[in-house]
Order: sequence, then structure tokens, then C-alpha cells
Amino acid sequence: MSDSAAVYHATATAPVNIAVIKYWGKTSTKLNTPTNSSLSVTLSQDDLRTLTTASCSAQFQADALWLNGAPHDVSNVRSQACFAELRALRKAKEDRDPSLPPLSSYKLHLVSENNFPTAAGLASSAAGFAAFVRAIADLYDLEETPTELSRIARQGSGSACRSLFGGYVAWEKGSRDDGKDSIAVQVAPESHWPTMRAAILVISDAKKGVSSTAGMQSTVATSTLFPNRANVVVPARMEAMKKAIAEKDFETFADLTMADSNSFHAVCLDTVPPIFYMNDTSRSAVRIVEEMNRCAGENIAAYTFDAGPNAVIYYEEPAQDIVLGVLKKAMPAAIGWSDKYSKIEAKLPDGFNGTLLGPLEFGVSRIILTSVGSGPLKVSKVHALIDQEGNPK
Ligand code: DP6
Repeated sequence: MSDSAAVYHATATAPVNIAVIKYWGKTSTKLNTPTNSSLSVTLSQDDLRTLTTASCSAQFQADALWLNGAPHDVSNVRSQACFAELRALRKAKEDRDPSLPPLSSYKLHLVSENNFPTAAGLASSAAGFAAFVRAIADLYDLEETPTELSRIARQGSGSACRSLFGGYVAWEKGSRDDGKDSIAVQVAPESHWPTMRAAILVISDAKKGVSSTAGMQSTVATSTLFPNRANVVVPARMEAMKKAIAEKDFETFADLTMADSNSFHAVCLDTVPPIFYMNDTSRSAVRIVEEMNRCAGENIAAYTFDAGPNAVIYYEEPAQDIVLGVLKKAMPAAIGWSDKYSKIEAKLPDGFNGTLLGPLEFGVSRIILTSVGSGPLKVSKVHALIDQEGNPK
């Protein structure tokens, strides 16, 4: 029996993920299926997460979403695809058990908040759509596995399918025409490689770049380097990366991560007209990581860049003093050097070419020091972001 005044709700969080083998290019814009598989690391939700309350009621007039306090459009095909798929799963459940309240026929209110600056361009669509799907699946009491839900989240935003898991996650591109096998799977849990760390350098950029959706379409249509990347380079790298992760082989993990970031930005440059996501500060971050590795005589850090200028640097905990020592020397005033890192001495390794540091000091506004984290989490109803009427608190 349903209660016509009742507001049903569930709250969940989802993490940000940063790819080490990049997704870039679609075979179908309708299904949002990728031209190549990709692999990412899920970052800790202590530092980066989206919190979403999904609610529904016979009283609600229309589907609606509020993001960080502001109303947000849900009429776009991507949100609509996610709503339709989740409602169909709930409807099938109600058909099997007619005593369930008919939530699939109610309008939805979603309220979402990020614990990090959304404007900083930090993969917020991945965490956003993953939390959206997870919270509605919880509201509907769906039994589908995270991999099954990843097929839905993919239709919201490709990279979102990887945020349904913690640890190390592959998005297998699939081969079916209906996209049903284009799904995410966990390659290793977050506990697998406990020493892995990430430093995110938030690099201020006044210019608004090309969106990843538009950018990748234009790369597929015009880049002559792209087919080789999608069909030859990435398939081999996916296998090598899975092996490097299984063996906790940082040397290879770092080689592959840096090479794949550079390959992705190379096909962007090869796009007509060319797309530039990295800027001078980004390139400085590349140089100092290369210099750290040269001084160490091995890879102690690996950079990667998405569709924007921010650098993500992966490193292992035993190298923390060296890696963060260089970053502190380069950008002592950046926001984000919390007390936890007060003992890190701002210092360059012997032989480090200090002239490389210059551009980072003014180009980086914030550093986020984080680690590998879990997949989406259920949150107690007391933390719901809606009031009793189902509107944002
Ligand atoms: C460069 O997932 O934002 O971050 O599917 O069009 O929403 P849409 O694209 P999106 O693309 C992310 C691209 C990337 C690489 C990656 O995360 O793999």
C-alpha cells in the first residue's frame, strides 16, 4: 500500500576517479559507448565526493535536481536515460511484488552536494552521475550489482561508470551493438595497494576549455593519430596496466600512466582545430615529475591530465618526503598543506634543476593530498539533504 503524502528517500555518496588509461572517443553518442576501454583509480571520499539524496513522492510535480544549492536541468537525454533505466528496474520489481509502493510512477527530487570546489574542474560529472544512480537504486531498493548499475551510469557520463567501485576500475568497452556489455569492473580493491597516494594540483585557468563530450567527438572525426591510439595502443596498455596493478609494480604503472596521458593530449593536439587542455603550468608539472624521477633513478611519481589543466600526480608513500618536499618547495603558499603535512620539509633532491620550479608557484592555487578510496557508500537518513516535504534543506 502506498501513502500518497509520504516522501521516500535514500542518500548515498560516490567518489571521483582519475583515469590512468584514458577514455576518449565514442562509438555511439546515443548509448555513450567508448572507442576504447579505460582504467582508473578511485580517490578517497574523505577528500573528494558527491553526496546525493534521491527522493520520490506521489506529491511531486516534476523530476528535479539541485546541485550545490542551485536548480539544475534534468531534461537532457543523459539524465533522462538514467531515470528511465532505473524506473524500469523498479517497475519490474513492483510487478513481481504488488505490495510494494509504486515508486516507479512518482517524480523524483535529487539534491546533490560536492565536498570540493566544483569549479575546479575535478571530474565532478563522474562522481555526480555515480551518486545519482546509486542513490536512486537505493531508494528503489534495487538488487542490481555495481557492474549492472555501471551500465546505467555510463549513459549519464562515461567516466561515471567507473565511480561505482573503489580501488582500481576498468571500463570494458564491450562489443554488443546495444551497449549492454559496456560496463565497469573492479580490477583490484582499494586495500590492494595501500601505499598508493595522489596529489592533485588545481591549476587556475581563466579560459573555459572545450567540453570532453564535444572534444572527443571532434577528435574521432578528424585526428589521423586517433585510430592507432584506440585500436592498437590502448588495448595493449590495458593489459599491461592490469598486470602492473596486480603486481604493484609502480615503475610500470608510472610509465604507462604518463605515456597514456601524453597520448591522449597528443590526439587532442592532432584534432582539427586542435584542442589544448594542458597549459604552461601543466607542462611545468610534467617537467618537475620527470626531474624527480631522473634524480631518483626510477619512477617515484607519475603525472596525468584530463580535459583541463589540473595535474594529478600518483606516488607511493615511501617516496612521500621526496615528492611532497619538491611540491612544497615549488608551491609553499598553495591552499591545502594541512597540519598533517607540516613535517614535510620543502626540499629538492641532490642534482634537481631548481629553475624548473618557477611557473608552479603562481599557477597552482590549491593542492589536494589524497589516497585511494572506496566506492559509493550508503548514508544514514539523518544526513538527508531534503526536508520533510522533499525540497532541498
Ligand atoms: C579525459 O566522462 O566527462 O576525463 O561521457 O561525454 O560525459 P562523457 O565524457 P566524460 O569524459 C572523461 C574523459 C577524461 C578521461 C577519463 O576519465 O577516462
